Amino acid sequence: MNASKHPIPEARWPSRAEAEASRVFSAGRLGPIETSSRTWVPAMVPWRCTEEGFVTPEILDWYGRFADGRPGVLVVEATGIRDVPSGPLMRAGHERFIPGLRDLVEVVRERSDGETRLFIQLIDFLTIRRRPEREAWVRRFLSVEPRHHEAVRTLGHAPADDDALRELLLNLEDEALFAVLSEREREDLEMGYREQVTDTHLPHIAALPEVLPGLFADAAQNAETAGFDGVELHFAHAYTMASFLSAKNDRDDGYGGSREARARLPLEVFRAVRERVSSELAVGCRFLGDEVIEGGGRLEDACHYGVAFAEAGMDFLSVSKGGKFEDAKQPKVGAAVYPYTGESGHECMPTVRIEGAAPFGRNLALPRAIRAAVREAGHETPVVAAGGLNEFDLMERSLGDGSCDFVAAARQSLADPDWWAKIREGAGAEIERCVFTNYCEALDQQHKQVTCQLWDKDKESADVGGGAPRLSPDGKRRLTAPPKQT
Ligand SMILES: Cc1cc2nc3c(=O)[nH]c(=O)nc-3n(C[C@H](O)[C@H](O)[C@H](O)COP(=O)(O)O)c2cc1C
Ligand code: SF4
Repeated sequence: MNASKHPIPEARWPSRAEAEASRVFSAGRLGPIETSSRTWVPAMVPWRCTEEGFVTPEILDWYGRFADGRPGVLVVEATGIRDVPSGPLMRAGHERFIPGLRDLVEVVRERSDGETRLFIQLIDFLTIRRRPEREAWVRRFLSVEPRHHEAVRTLGHAPADDDALRELLLNLEDEALFAVLSEREREDLEMGYREQVTDTHLPHIAALPEVLPGLFADAAQNAETAGFDGVELHFAHAYTMASFLSAKNDRDDGYGGSREARARLPLEVFRAVRERVSSELAVGCRFLGDEVIEGGGRLEDACHYGVAFAEAGMDFLSVSKGGKFEDAKQPKVGAAVYPYTGESGHECMPTVRIEGAAPFGRNLALPRAIRAAVREAGHETPVVAAGGLNEFDLMERSLGDGSCDFVAAARQSLADPDWWAKIREGAGAEIERCVFTNYCEALDQQHKQVTCQLWDKDKESADVGGGAPRLSPDGKRRLTAPPKQT
């Protein structure tokens, strides 16, 4: 990629009085919930739960540290709705998770002095396997069909049986092998097997519309019981619900094809959740303003969805971009494909090396257009923007020019969780500024505990609340940001 480098722009920070009078720090509303400001920390997976998906002391530290900065809204990481093992990803699909989630709510209440509203992002995802060895795949995973025999016959071969065919395929050059395989088989071999919502020949995929509304509703109910203020339905990036919304979804069972049909399950999920939880809980979603893949949905689709979600009564619309499997880089043998490695992934978490416009506020045109469409349709649903929001004037402008109603900052909040408080106190000059090179994201890709490279400049300071800093297992990285210097 011919990438240019965008310097981190100089920032002007407001005085305490200017911050207090700003839009950024004005009160907001998300359906039934009032927020103390328009500031937002979007979901970030830190890989700190137990293998069974339970909250750990490290998770409490992680979210407690964000709460120290007192954002208006803090969204807890993508949390699994199913009662199935999913590694150290948080889970909410059973009542046994409620006590841990309740601890999390209490820590955030306490450390933000009740100021931060705590939401949880609920996710469903389908099976994905690591990229296989060619030999193992041909011998064990390829399901041999008559069409394979036919295809090799056109190449002048006549294997006696399926085993002989597998032997033959193993000895073919890549090009000849790929000519024998279907597109999907080639993808399974080169990228690793990945279930798709369009695999309706698989009974559990065909049944997704029957099971998902109930599963999302169960998890939302558990979150409300634990004391969360809101639920964010994860309809973005590479996961199940975004795949239903995708322009590539051509299911023929009424849940794919037209935009209306693609939005049907997301709307059914929302209604099931809304019916299950009380009117006190805010319920909205995160979805894509642009899929950024060939044949994928663009802003026009997103505007249509935004209006449909607003009409259905969602309390907020959080807009993200890209992050798809379809254009991800080929993983190494033995690794799983990661949806933030292709162009769509780069747009999701833009770095200073991205081509074209700088990453700072790069994606604002999407929430701006969606918000305009929603307003035009007569709805006041708040819209949340993200993507390189890293300084006060940029955020203030975005709120003033109609781009959004809430400003979300993921990596800048990771780099310095106190940054919101520092701006508000007129101490912006003390902010540790994110360098947008995605060291954190590389850790996420490896499912390693996510940290920020800037935290390790200060290895000595005790963690907030005293005590030696908690470090990663290799003893090299702090697991939370150093405390704010007062
Ligand atoms: C380590 C890491 C983990 C993330 N995990 C999630 C997630 O669980 N759910 C989600 O919707 N977005 C996730 N994101 C994307 C962010 O929420 C955000 O949309 C993106 O980083 C762009 O915002 P920023 O420029 O402020 O960082 C993650 C980002 C990072 C860096
Ligand atoms: S690791 Fe880099 S990109 Fe990630 S939050 Fe820290 S400074 Fe920003």
